[in-house]
Amino acid sequence: MANRILLVNGPNLNLLGTREPEVYGSDTLDDIVALTVETARVEELQVVAMQSNHEGEIVDAIHSAREDCAGIIINAGAYTHTSVAIRDALKAVALPFIEVHISNVHAREEFRHRSYLSDIAECVIVGAGIQGYEFAVERLARVIA
Ligand code: DQA
Repeated sequence: MANRILLVNGPNLNLLGTREPEVYGSDTLDDIVALTVETARVEELQVVAMQSNHEGEIVDAIHSAREDCAGIIINAGAYTHTSVAIRDALKAVALPFIEVHISNVHAREEFRHRSYLSDIAECVIVGAGIQGYEFAVERLARVIA
């Protein structure tokens, strides 16, 4: 559907709020979903939100988006740096997607500098904290308009 977007949050993001607050801040996953839903509402978009710690479930959710979503916002967490399967799923469904990272991955360990998603993403937002999700909705709204 043209007015629906999928929000994917990957492994360990369910622990936001208590997980390494000096890196990720004190906002929770619920806060992120609420911010995304509210930003999307202004853009007249609906959000289907999922979080999973399991690679295959994320692949399945991306496949399902093909049925009823116009685009995807994804923070794949650590799978960003390892997952050919998530990359292939995003390529397979061929929906525009925006890659978000709360922290500035480029200012962190070297293994976080590599993303399996960035070169096929519509747009990449890093280091803006949870505001990155807001930017992502605004950008995706323009892309799918
Ligand atoms: C993250 C960055 C990743 O390197 C890390 O594995 C995460 C979160 C971020 O939002 O900053 O789980 O995607």
